[in-house]
Amino acid sequence: MSALFTPYRIGTFEMANRIVIAPMCQYSAVDGCMTDWHVIHLGNLALSGAALLTVEATAVLPEGRITYADVGLWNDATEAAIGRTLDTVRRWSDIRIAIQLAHAGRKASTEVPWKGGLQIPPDRSNGRQTVAPSAIPYQEGQRSPVALDRSSLTRLREAFVAATQRAARLGIDAVQLHGAHGYLLHQFLSPLSNRRDDEYGGSLENRMRFPLEVFEAVRAAFPPDRPVTMRVSGTDWVDGGWDIDQTIAAAQALEARGCSAIHVSSGGLTPSQQIPVGPSYQVPLARAVKKATRMPVIAVGLITEFEQAEAIVGTGDADFIALARTILYDPRWPWHAAAHFGAHVKAPDQYLRSQPRQYPDLFDIGH
Ligand SMILES: Cc1cc2nc3c(=O)[nH]c(=O)nc-3n(C[C@H](O)[C@H](O)[C@H](O)COP(=O)(O)O)c2cc1C
Repeated sequence: MSALFTPYRIGTFEMANRIVIAPMCQYSAVDGCMTDWHVIHLGNLALSGAALLTVEATAVLPEGRITYADVGLWNDATEAAIGRTLDTVRRWSDIRIAIQLAHAGRKASTEVPWKGGLQIPPDRSNGRQTVAPSAIPYQEGQRSPVALDRSSLTRLREAFVAATQRAARLGIDAVQLHGAHGYLLHQFLSPLSNRRDDEYGGSLENRMRFPLEVFEAVRAAFPPDRPVTMRVSGTDWVDGGWDIDQTIAAAQALEARGCSAIHVSSGGLTPSQQIPVGPSYQVPLARAVKKATRMPVIAVGLITEFEQAEAIVGTGDADFIALARTILYDPRWPWHAAAHFGAHVKAPDQYLRSQPRQYPDLFDIGH
């Protein structure tokens, strides 16, 4: 029996296998509204055979977008656009759907990657004033973010809650908070970006305070039987930055507050990071969190091979593996993995005739 294709249950939430589709920004929204690209993209991935599809980083406020083309969930129009997209996807797939709620903080207001990704100043079209825990830019030469005051923190937390309520209304199965990759919540966690001298900065406990407050508020706003999870960077890959020991402390604090799972990525806080990129390079971070907590752990990062994924789950380094570039490149990766291990996947009726002769039991028929 393949570990990768062993079902998993988080409370009443069932996952058919251990394959998660990681959130991936598509930079294809208009005024925060999903477009027909999202129907194509999410519809395609919904037929992949993975257990869970995570909708891309979705901004809780317009100024929290990485780019002007990010998806948002801050008003009725953005909610309706997601609703239309998911209605279509759900009509043809019963894949579990999570949404990643995000605020980019000092990394907001940039051009889309394929147009260079540079910061857009607030006085230019599509530009916005950025905000952050402290007035420290991400990169030298960038305009400084404005340090968030107490009332802005309250407004931000409320924006996360309002987006969560909209996600609940849309029937989304799980919410993931984006606490990784140098975006706002990570900016609070890391001592390199958080130099505050109030109760939201300084000690580890203080730096964790705002992300934990947001988590608690979001957890309280989402139906209790549906998971709320967090994505974190396990390290900044910079001396003196956020590291795995602090990540473990944060994971334990999240677990104590009812976090359903933790997704361990890394980096993104500073351009001076030194990342030892290679196959499974972030798995040791997931393993360390797994050892120190009881909640399910998701590993991610250059997981491309079936046996590699099987080993990560099978040896207990993590409970789930997440795929990003791998599944864009090969959207039927879970089908191929299931064929490789003699396991089963659900295929749409329209595609049942594609089952290869040498894998006569690959598709779960009749569900
Ligand atoms: C096109 C693209 C968009 C991404 N957007 C997001 C995002 O919205 N939120 C996030 O947390 N990570 C995002 N990531 C990071 C991925 O979720 C993932 O952690 C990373 O690519 C490593 O996994 P991989 O080696 O399977 O690609 C993105 C990656 C790609 C390639």
